[in-house]
Amino acid sequence: MIKEIQLEKELTKPLYLQLYSQIKGLIEEGKLQAHDKLPSIRKLAKGLQVNTVTVVNGYNVLEEEGLVYKKVGSGTFIMPNEQIKDKIIPGEGQADDSELKKEDEEVINFGTVAPSPSLFPIQAFKRLLNQVLDRDQGYAFGYQKSQGYLPLRESIAQYVENYQIEIGAEQIQIVSGAQQGLDVLAKTFLDYGDTVFVERPTYPGAISAFKSRKVELIDIPLEKDGLNLEELEVLLKRYKPKFLYLMPNFQNPTGYSYSLKKKKELLKLADQYELLIIEDDCVSDLNYLGQPRKSLKALDTEDKVVYLKSFSKLYMPGLRLAFMIIPSSYCEDILVSKYLSDIFTDGLVQRVLDLYLRREDWQEQLNCLKEKYSQRYQVMITALKEYLPPNVDYIEPEGGLNLWLKLPQQVSATKLHKVLRKDGVNIAPGALFYHTKPHKNRIRLSIAAVTCQQIEEGIQQLGQRIREELKEEGDYRFDESMMPLV
Ligand SMILES: Cc1ncc(COP(=O)(O)O)c(C=O)c1O
Repeated sequence: MIKEIQLEKELTKPLYLQLYSQIKGLIEEGKLQAHDKLPSIRKLAKGLQVNTVTVVNGYNVLEEEGLVYKKVGSGTFIMPNEQIKDKIIPGEGQADDSELKKEDEEVINFGTVAPSPSLFPIQAFKRLLNQVLDRDQGYAFGYQKSQGYLPLRESIAQYVENYQIEIGAEQIQIVSGAQQGLDVLAKTFLDYGDTVFVERPTYPGAISAFKSRKVELIDIPLEKDGLNLEELEVLLKRYKPKFLYLMPNFQNPTGYSYSLKKKKELLKLADQYELLIIEDDCVSDLNYLGQPRKSLKALDTEDKVVYLKSFSKLYMPGLRLAFMIIPSSYCEDILVSKYLSDIFTDGLVQRVLDLYLRREDWQEQLNCLKEKYSQRYQVMITALKEYLPPNVDYIEPEGGLNLWLKLPQQVSATKLHKVLRKDGVNIAPGALFYHTKPHKNRIRLSIAAVTCQQIEEGIQQLGQRIREELKEEGDYRFDESMMPLV
């Protein structure tokens, strides 16, 4: 097979996409057949005299397209024909909403962190749902405890031991999504005129939930290794905030993670100034390269941290499921707020999630997500390096769903957003993530809802548009005819 492939380094098309197209061609011509094994990454890289990353990325795109499948420890194989056809040839006579779906899919959407429905474990969910219905019958639909279904709270207490968090089921409060968690916390702790500290930038859903209580929000600059702690301490001397809200691992929108040192120093400050911390952990599990990242809660010996975790990004957002781990002294107040919000979270989905966590399915689901997202992440990093002008600044977060780009000063993120929309590419302008004085040249790119192929195309467009904006700005600034007469 290696002899059939010829990559041309002079072409503008990246080598890994050339590799992808040529293997796809061999499949279409029947030269590669169902379950044929592709050469190992090392062997192919050596044979074609390219970097192993080129082969990894090429195989990733093939897998993303459903043309090959991987077996851990064995290699990469050609997908059987019927399954390829399912992917390539759309069925006839589809209903209207499938057309809608197609339109959605045509937009290259870097603007959302909502995961693609193709990643949802529907078959496993169906199986467990039937088991719950057979087992619990009508009880699954009765009134439930506001704190949450006890077996689920027990399985979560056991599950969080994986994060080195040791708590009992009585400290867990189930909520209908992390957004409700934020609202319940706002209801519990905040009154008109109170002060809340947040990171700058931060998650807009939190800004809205806190602002709905008419509080004063004070933001503290977030650096690449965590909050600016000197500034935090200055502010702690001036204000008595009701809490500090933050995302220490793979933050939304920046993807930044706090260093272990900063996490520990932050907890010391919390202890010294009696500061309550709300830790929002959506995606710390999606760690593609580095060591597992500790949560603040795992380091919290003084019970100063409320830990909030959503299942939206790891399971399915439509189920509206999240949980909080609450310092014992606040459990009752929070329970009352939750009761007043919606009495309880859907009992049926709580039961299904409980089974999911108790069986192997959960770890499998996480591994599967991690593998998919890590492919997208690698393609994204390669594409950013390849297509963006060198004066765009970003870090490689090594996990999570987001990348935060600082564009050259003269490029407006909102204008770029509008221009790219017309090209069918969606990005999130950074201004969305500030509650005051936004930086105008930041954008967030998410890999949650884009395929590897779309990442390649979308980032190429992005790079081109940034260059055009820079050129326009340059022309504008140096055009003397535009200068006012003095
Ligand atoms: C940081 C953060 N917190 C909370 C939420 C809300 O999550 P949920 O779908 O569980 O309400 C999101 C959603 O994107 C988020 O990014």
